[in-house]
Amino acid sequence: MYKIQTLNNIAVAGLNRLSRETFEVASEIAHPDAILVRSANMHEMEIPSTIKAIGRAGAGVNNIPVERLTGRGVAVFNAPGANANAVKELVLAGMLLAARNISQAWQFARGLEGEDEAIHKAVEAGKKQFVGFELPGRTLGVVGLGAIGVRVANAARALGMRVVGYDPTITVQRAWQLASDVKPARGIDDLLARSDFVTFHVPLTEDTRHMINAERIRLMPKRAVLLNFSRAGIIDDEAAVAALDEGHLYSYVCDFPSNRLKDHPRVITLPHIGASTAEAEENCAVMVADQVRDYLETGNVTNS
Ligand code: MLT
Repeated sequence: MYKIQTLNNIAVAGLNRLSRETFEVASEIAHPDAILVRSANMHEMEIPSTIKAIGRAGAGVNNIPVERLTGRGVAVFNAPGANANAVKELVLAGMLLAARNISQAWQFARGLEGEDEAIHKAVEAGKKQFVGFELPGRTLGVVGLGAIGVRVANAARALGMRVVGYDPTITVQRAWQLASDVKPARGIDDLLARSDFVTFHVPLTEDTRHMINAERIRLMPKRAVLLNFSRAGIIDDEAAVAALDEGHLYSYVCDFPSNRLKDHPRVITLPHIGASTAEAEENCAVMVADQVRDYLETGNVTNS
C-alpha cells in the first residue's frame, strides 16, 4: 500500500486514478510515499524522509524546493499544458476587460441609484466615460511560447490581432511551427516597442524577475496594456503603477493581488485564478496522479 498526502484540494478525477487497493490518500497521513500539491508553499516545510515523489497539480514548480528534493532523490512531477486553455481564456478576458474598461464601467453601473431618468442620464455619461478600443489590427506581444503562450498567440490571431513572439529558449523556426503567423521579435526590447498589449508566459527565475521595469515600460507605445498571468515579480509593480499614473500605460491586468495595486483605478487584479476552472483542475490532477502512480509502481518517469 502506498500512502499519498494531499496538501491542497486535488480534483476527485485525479484521486480516482489511485486505486483504493493500492493507494491510501489523505491530507494527514504518517510516513507518506508521495505528496500531491497545488499552491501550498513547501519551501519552509519539513518534508518526510519517506517521500519518493511530489506531484504539482499545475505547470510552475516554484512553490516546491525542487533542487533540495531532487538532490535527495525525490522525483518532482508537474502538469505542463494541462491548464493552458484555462489560462489562455483568462488572458483573452483580461485584454477585453482592459480594452473596454469593463471593470471600471461595472463599478460605475453598480453605483447607480435613483429614478429611471437619473439612471438614463448616468448611462449617457457612462457611454462617454468608458469609450474603449477594439482588438483587430492591434499587436499582442507574447513573451514565452510554451503551451500557454502558443495558445494565446493563436487565439489572438483569430481575433484579428497581429502577434509578435519572443522566447529565448526556442528557435524562430520552432516558434513558427507552434504558432502560425507569429512574427519573431529580436528580443524583449524589440517586442515591447512593437506591442500594444504584452502578456508573459515564462516562469519566475533570476533572469525573469522584474524583466519589466520602468526603463522597459518606456519602450512600449503610449497607452499600452501589460498583462501578467504568469508569476508575481516578473513585472515591477511599482514601475507599472508609475507608468499608469503618467498615462504611459493604459491598463495593467495582473492575476496576483497586492496592496500596492489594489486601489489603482486602471489596475485589474485577480486572485491567481488563471488555472481555476473545473476542467483545468481535473486535467492537472489526472496528469500528476498518473505520473506519481506510475513512478511509485514501476519507477517509470513520464515527465519530471
Ligand atoms: C500553474 O503554475 O500552472 C498555476 O499556478 C496553477 C495554479 O493556479 O495552481
